[in-house]
Amino acid sequence: MIIAIDGPAASGKGTLARRLADHFKLRHLDTGLTYRAVAAALLAKGLPLGDESVAIEIAQHLDLAQMDKSVLSAHEIGEAASRIAVLGGLREELVNLQRKFAETPPGAVMDGRDIGTVVCPHATVKLFVTASPEARARRRTDEMISKGNDASYASVLEDLKRRDERDSQRTVAPLKQADDAVLLDTTEMDIEAAFEAAVDIVSKAA
Ligand code: DC
Repeated sequence: MIIAIDGPAASGKGTLARRLADHFKLRHLDTGLTYRAVAAALLAKGLPLGDESVAIEIAQHLDLAQMDKSVLSAHEIGEAASRIAVLGGLREELVNLQRKFAETPPGAVMDGRDIGTVVCPHATVKLFVTASPEARARRRTDEMISKGNDASYASVLEDLKRRDERDSQRTVAPLKQADDAVLLDTTEMDIEAAFEAAVDIVSKAA
């Protein structure tokens, strides 16, 4: 069983994916972390983000079990990840890795931008999770403040819009709802309501 979850930044897809994986006893891969891990390695080496051959080499040695979400969730790593995500050869490498994870029994919940369209086009069920940019910016700002970080709603909103634009306008595997994905708009939902709606969608499809 493969549950594909796509959606823009801060849509809540990560939290939903984790909870669905717990509920359906599946493994979970946040594919954004694979792009973040490569970006972080390039930044650490002081290399330009456009250096695709080094990026591919880093991807070939990536150990999914070693990716540390708390380190990789830094804002500048997210920005850098979105920039390297336009590199077609790098995407091919990471997609192969992601597919292997998804296809290992008993299956997985995969979240990202191109899971339903490219990584797992034959997934058992596909969800496209979204919310208005304002709702996403509000949640992201609250989350940053609750972690003791400085955050301004206006600049978070501006960042999100820029990232949405880059992720959905790129030519290779842009963020896009798959034709057979179910849309889950969480603008007016809290996480419990979104989780219940997602379980319902998956149960009907599985
Ligand atoms: O979901 P995230 O914020 O961790 O993702 C960081 C960046 O990685 C995102 O801006 C675009 C890229 N990404 C992608 O292109 N394809 C995916 N399946 C996941 C993430």
